[in-house]
Amino acid sequence: MSGNVALIGDKSISHRAIIFAALADGTSNIQNLLMSEDTKATLKIIEQMGIDIKLNDTVSIIGNGLNGLKEPKKDLNAMNSGTTARLLIGLLSKQNFSSTLKGSPQLNKRPMNRITDLLVQNGASINIKNSFLPIKFKSSEYSFNFQNTLVPSAQVKSALIIASLYHSEPTLIEETVATRDHTERMLIAMGANILRLGNTITVSPTNNLKPLNISIPGDISSGAFLIALGVLKGKEIILENMLINERRLGFVKILKRMGANIEIVNINEENNEVIGDIKVKKSTLNGTTVTKEEVADFIDEIPIFTFLASQAIGITKLVGAEELKVKESDRLDVMKKFILELGGKIEVYDDGFEIKGIQDLRDGLIKTFDDHRIAMTAIIANIALGKKIIPDNKECIKDSYPSFFEDLKELGAEINE
Ligand code: S3P
Repeated sequence: MSGNVALIGDKSISHRAIIFAALADGTSNIQNLLMSEDTKATLKIIEQMGIDIKLNDTVSIIGNGLNGLKEPKKDLNAMNSGTTARLLIGLLSKQNFSSTLKGSPQLNKRPMNRITDLLVQNGASINIKNSFLPIKFKSSEYSFNFQNTLVPSAQVKSALIIASLYHSEPTLIEETVATRDHTERMLIAMGANILRLGNTITVSPTNNLKPLNISIPGDISSGAFLIALGVLKGKEIILENMLINERRLGFVKILKRMGANIEIVNINEENNEVIGDIKVKKSTLNGTTVTKEEVADFIDEIPIFTFLASQAIGITKLVGAEELKVKESDRLDVMKKFILELGGKIEVYDDGFEIKGIQDLRDGLIKTFDDHRIAMTAIIANIALGKKIIPDNKECIKDSYPSFFEDLKELGAEINE
């Protein structure tokens, strides 16, 4: 398999670009904005709050300032998108109007109280039952000057930062484990008064945000599926203009440690993010131990990593990954079912797994639990092993990577039906 791919825009950065452009003073122009089911949910919600959006090759969003959102006429629906829901909780809690945020049955099972508890204890007027969506927001004058995120989550940190943009005094936000920092980076590029020192972020009052002019770098979490294919079957695969932010590079770093032939070239900085081309060639992988400190930097790549671990020589161990249980599915349990269905062996613990390779896996029908990253892992296993490994839902791939099958075709990949 070989070729060059220019990947769809990064999902995390796309959500933030849509939301922050709406809060800027003036028109933002965004290229390579990810148009997936998840980011479409964010776009629709922002439109429902009175923001004009022009969808062309370059997406224009006409920002109305930090206080320019309008009361939505209908409930806001985050669909399957955890990032949409969690970032918006911070924003909606600070508006001078009421709103209701809801989601799909899948999202309705994912905990939202990891943010609402923190805001409510600081005085926010938020009505939530049993930790889950739907959530009702009422206008309330609340603020805080210090808050720890309590869980290693960039979504929680981002909700707190967004709420702090509305404070009249500086706010300190602390995280124990460093998580992806696109919120901080983008807001700083837009002129917000944000300072990062170690794991503490200080948000000082900002009156206005400058509009964005941005081309969104390629999504490294989606690219991970092509990197996995390159490692198992690639002559040479080149992913162009990829996001290579340090907090998103865990997958590449761990694979390199396992012996993968991956090179990053043409490194550049644009809009306060680091971008580069990633070259991957077929390699032999050896098992490794992944520590708790490494988990946040590759949290979304763990399903495809679990499959790769089954194809590495010797033992691969992962610890400290309990956050996997609250993703689109319980990804530890679902990946255990995945490996067992294919006749492999895996020990799954409360916070990780141990797997011994190389395993000779067979055909099988994979239960995805409508989780896009499980479905894509099944397709990569199918192509790499030449086996009829079939996910029970392919539609869900559109949540994050609508051009997945086109990109595979471009690289010459053949799926065994
Ligand atoms: C995201 C953060 C991560 C990640 C998710 C996107 C973000 O979630 O799993 O896909 O854009 O902030 P947590 O921060 O909750 O771990």
